[in-house]
Amino acid sequence: MLINIKSEREIELMRQAGHLNYLTHEEIKKNLRPGITTKQIDKIAHDYIIKNGGIPSCLGFEGFPASICISINDEVVHGIPKNRKIKNGDIVSIDFTVRLNGYESDSARTYIIGSVSQEIEDLVKHTEEALYKGIKEVRPGVRIGNISNAIETYAKAHHLSVVEELVGHGIGTNMHEDPDVPNYGKKAQGPLLKEGMVIAIEPMLNLGKRNVCMLEDNWTIVTEDSSPSAHFEHTVAVTKDGYKILTGE
Ligand code: MF3
Ligand code: CO
Ligand code: CO
Repeated sequence: MLINIKSEREIELMRQAGHLNYLTHEEIKKNLRPGITTKQIDKIAHDYIIKNGGIPSCLGFEGFPASICISINDEVVHGIPKNRKIKNGDIVSIDFTVRLNGYESDSARTYIIGSVSQEIEDLVKHTEEALYKGIKEVRPGVRIGNISNAIETYAKAHHLSVVEELVGHGIGTNMHEDPDVPNYGKKAQGPLLKEGMVIAIEPMLNLGKRNVCMLEDNWTIVTEDSSPSAHFEHTVAVTKDGYKILTGE
């Protein structure tokens, strides 16, 4: 395992990539409403990233056919934009990378469209909070397992299950670098965090069982029991005394 350490200059370049990722999410948010197709959302994101000098680096990544992943309800991650319309009562996860300055940024959000049941509202709220529980662990000298454990403990406390097959990751000039950042695990285990490491933390939590499977499109991951799933992600740098969220405002 080789964990890249980024210089302050590189982290500033990554922050710029992360900021464009953030702005693209905001642009998508403005356009999300019942009736819009996932393909239309993909085009809005694609054009916005290009217009601002970035590269929608999901496009063509291992053959992925779109610029962003859109995963609805029981879809966990890697949903492919198509002619499906967003409708009232859906939860819609939007996840994508933006490449700028030669560096990647990766962030995901889950939106509630119109009104949903209290338990689905809680699923989304608690998945976002689980991300922040993980982020708050980040500082030099702490192990990846502390992040994993904070996410898992919070998820379990709210009776949500943790997807284990997909994990967070290091990020830099490549979308996926070492180390893995699982959303379950034990404190004080795994790689040690050091100043200058950059990781993507991304809890995927389900209302039902943790098990997932892949659709025949060879991309979309869905829950086996068809229960709804939520996903939030930020790209986070380890700083001298803690962390900096690179995909925030
Ligand atoms: N953004 C995803 C992640 O969090 C990766 C998407 S790969 C793609 O790691 F090819 F589906 F875009
Ligand atoms: Co992502
Ligand atoms: Co990621």
